[in-house]
Amino acid sequence: MFFFSGTVANMANLMRFFILLLHLIVSTIAVDKGNFKTCEQSSFCRRLRKIKPDNPKYFLDLDSLQLSDNSVEAELVNTDDNVKLKFSLTTLADDTFRVIIDEYKPLHARYRVEGALNGEPQVAKLELLERDRDVVSVKLGNNKATMTSDPFKVEFYQGDTLVAVVNSRNLFEFEHLRVKPVIKFKHPLEMQQNLTATGRKLIVIIDPHIKREGGYFLHEEALSNDYYIKTKDGNVYEGWCWPGASSYLDLFNPAVTEYYSKLYAHDKFIGSTDTMYIWNDMNEPSVFNGPEVTMPKDCVHYGGWEHRHVHNIHGYYYTKTTFDGLLQRTPNTRPFILTRSFFSGSQRHAAVWTGDNAADWSHLAISFPMCLSMAVSGFSFCGADIGGFFHSPDTELLQRWYQAGAWLPFYRAHAHLDTKRREPYLFDQDVQTRIRNALRLRYAHLPVWYTLFWEHSKTAEPVIRPLIYQYPSDSNVLDIDYQLLVGSSILVRPVVESRASTVNVYFPGGAQQIWYDIEDWRPYIGSRSVSVPVTMDKVPAYYRGGSIIPRKDRPRRAASLMLDDPYTLYVVLDAENSASGTLYTDDGYTYGYKNKDYLYIQFKFKDNTLTSSIIDKDAQYPTREWLERVVIVNPPKGIKHAEIKSKGLGTLQLQTSYTGEERSLVVRKPGVSMQEEFIITLL
Ligand SMILES: *[C@@H]1O[C@H](CO)[C@@H](O)[C@H](O)[C@H]1NC(C)=O
Repeated sequence: MFFFSGTVANMANLMRFFILLLHLIVSTIAVDKGNFKTCEQSSFCRRLRKIKPDNPKYFLDLDSLQLSDNSVEAELVNTDDNVKLKFSLTTLADDTFRVIIDEYKPLHARYRVEGALNGEPQVAKLELLERDRDVVSVKLGNNKATMTSDPFKVEFYQGDTLVAVVNSRNLFEFEHLRVKPVIKFKHPLEMQQNLTATGRKLIVIIDPHIKREGGYFLHEEALSNDYYIKTKDGNVYEGWCWPGASSYLDLFNPAVTEYYSKLYAHDKFIGSTDTMYIWNDMNEPSVFNGPEVTMPKDCVHYGGWEHRHVHNIHGYYYTKTTFDGLLQRTPNTRPFILTRSFFSGSQRHAAVWTGDNAADWSHLAISFPMCLSMAVSGFSFCGADIGGFFHSPDTELLQRWYQAGAWLPFYRAHAHLDTKRREPYLFDQDVQTRIRNALRLRYAHLPVWYTLFWEHSKTAEPVIRPLIYQYPSDSNVLDIDYQLLVGSSILVRPVVESRASTVNVYFPGGAQQIWYDIEDWRPYIGSRSVSVPVTMDKVPAYYRGGSIIPRKDRPRRAASLMLDDPYTLYVVLDAENSASGTLYTDDGYTYGYKNKDYLYIQFKFKDNTLTSSIIDKDAQYPTREWLERVVIVNPPKGIKHAEIKSKGLGTLQLQTSYTGEERSLVVRKPGVSMQEEFIITLL
């Protein structure tokens, strides 16, 4: 810090300054703010914004004062984090002062400007004026510098006139060098306990590259047991990926998969818990320095197979091994695995996402035909990274992605390390609200997804369906790949276009089929295309007339916390005033269902009567779930109340009320356990 004698700006300079300012304002208007971090997104800026004048934190420790002929030195202490700085004031020729503040023990030497001054300034002899525990004052010619201890302040006088003050408003801040926070998980068990206490689970990433490092047990055991994939010359193949030089376990060898799956045991996988699950990435395998970013086609696997013959199924064996490992680790608990590479059969073990997409409207759009193609090929558990992995989405794209992605089976927000932070809480209230609404809609429909996956596991019917799957004789739907059906009852037209004010929705099923907007129950007649107005809050989604949709409408922070929550049944009547649907429920995580620990329920509405009946009579699950509400869409007119009958409840009267121009009728608090068969009659 240097002090120079003041200069007076003349008019010309002032004019130049204003012109410059004007120029800055003009160019500011043209800048896209979205390209820059906000203060909240920069830890440096956040720290500095927190500094307030009423909270002085620096004090000059005058007990440590050292006085010489031409300098004053003392410790300057940051009382917030106890970092000690070195304060020095030097008296220079021409009656000027020089103040330098630096760390006593910086992590590394700080860069000091050279060349800006024409050589080192000449020092001059100071005169001590005053010194006590709170103040020290020195004189130089006609000038004076007074240093105050607490709060730290330096005042410069010309004669008796105060001309400059260091830290006059306690806003002085010295950013000491700090260790970049290295994210280390020092207490993995406690961390996971803390996480699972909120109903969430930890998924950790495991890739197939084994680091070639002496002392790494896995590498050494793989070498000594001959478990690695070989080159064509019979040497252990070595590729390059995240860990650096890596080799790859030969998963075509049953001894290797047995060995590898056992490494998921808690005493091998230190820091793991029973609720920790796995994301298998790069399992094609991806090899940075290999041909086509994988291993050479002439690498040799167990059984003598060249990699060219087995490449496509490598990912299958990798996730199967993980699946076996998790099941051995935590018996009778369904493993969760997310995989990038997969093959026919992988649907038994893992969910898949569509790989490294980008924050681009076309990538949002294509996630639908991609997942729909996989679904009709037998792999339903599919989704795309919300927001796009590479690059930064603008808020419109981000919101649309949350809204659209909620209707694919796998729903995950993800981003590349180098992209701008995009956690929902970083955005304005209205953006947060839209994202929250998308998440709530997603969670409300979890019973639908769960039921569909149960049925998928029994019948192989895809969970999400292109229109052609459900309406094969309707030639209008042949090339519609941007709309989808969730099961057969929910029709969704995600908004995948920027600044859309309308979107075209095709309603299949013929003139007898009516679809109801899930927000306002507005009806749309089948086999026609309608231009539907949309706002940023609107994603066109419809229930099929004739379907019964089980939902859990109480918002929670995690699916696991919804286990015992009550249902709302949305009974959407068709032209004949009837509807039907199913519900599957169980404990949500064990294989108890293989021993018939589940409920599979059929709902039917006909002749003003809703009945529930257990489909698999020999299956039982003592659920705490109950029926909170029934919403009849397209209800019969003139209903005054309702009546419920069940074994446990006997016969009870229920209140009903019409809502929204009589487009729906709400039956309040049936209160019946889902385990019980029941009959609700509208009266
Ligand atoms: C777990 O939570 C407690 C209580 O909030 C906290 O003190 C502790 O630091 C947390 N542990 C870890 C490893 O995050």
